[in-house]
Amino acid sequence: MLGAKPPRDRNLTRQKLSLDKQARAAALGQKPAILWFTGLSGAGKSTIANLVAEKLHVAGKHTYMLDGDNVRHGLNRDLGFTDADRVENIRRIAEVAKLFVDAGLIVIVSAISPFHSDRDMARQLVEPGEFFEIHVAASLATCEARDPKGLYARARQGKIANFTGISSSYEAPENPELRIDTAVVDAETAADQVLALLQAHR
Ligand code: ADX
Repeated sequence: MLGAKPPRDRNLTRQKLSLDKQARAAALGQKPAILWFTGLSGAGKSTIANLVAEKLHVAGKHTYMLDGDNVRHGLNRDLGFTDADRVENIRRIAEVAKLFVDAGLIVIVSAISPFHSDRDMARQLVEPGEFFEIHVAASLATCEARDPKGLYARARQGKIANFTGISSSYEAPENPELRIDTAVVDAETAADQVLALLQAHR
């Protein structure tokens, strides 16, 4: 697994820093965490994640959002949608999320993150109890009927290669901390469920 690899240069050591995560989190008055939203395109990840960010902000919490679509415009602009590129996409997002956790923040990640192994790698990067996997579950048929960006139609026409759910696989989490079926739960209720989950573990 990429995330577990040692650095390429053997002459690298870790710099000991005196100001640590605990001090930064205490200064912010919160416990850092990663809220990791996974699910098919169009399942509702970003909508719920956005609401969660707003609600946490109103509650005086310090957050940062890493949205797959947005990160792909900058840090991950060199990556496409082959399996290997998705693995690298998630590895970078997970490493950045870890840095923000180290800064004391509640990090909200919204990315398809289709593979078990990459989500597990992200979980392993932080301390036990800091990672919350939230499966935004909607069937392929539901997502395809919504098709908010018109991507499913284009994928069916063969105009997009490796499209998740059609020509690229999605491995649903087996034991997520929370599963939200957006075919029956509205976004507002879903966001409240996420906040309740976080609160129950603080
Ligand atoms: S991931 O699989 O690597 O985690 P990520 O969440 O960053 O994906 O990006 C998914 C977004 O990219 C989708 O919401 C969609 O807007 C866009 N996209 C473009 N091409 C594809 C594709 N082939 N498969 C899935 N999403 C795609």
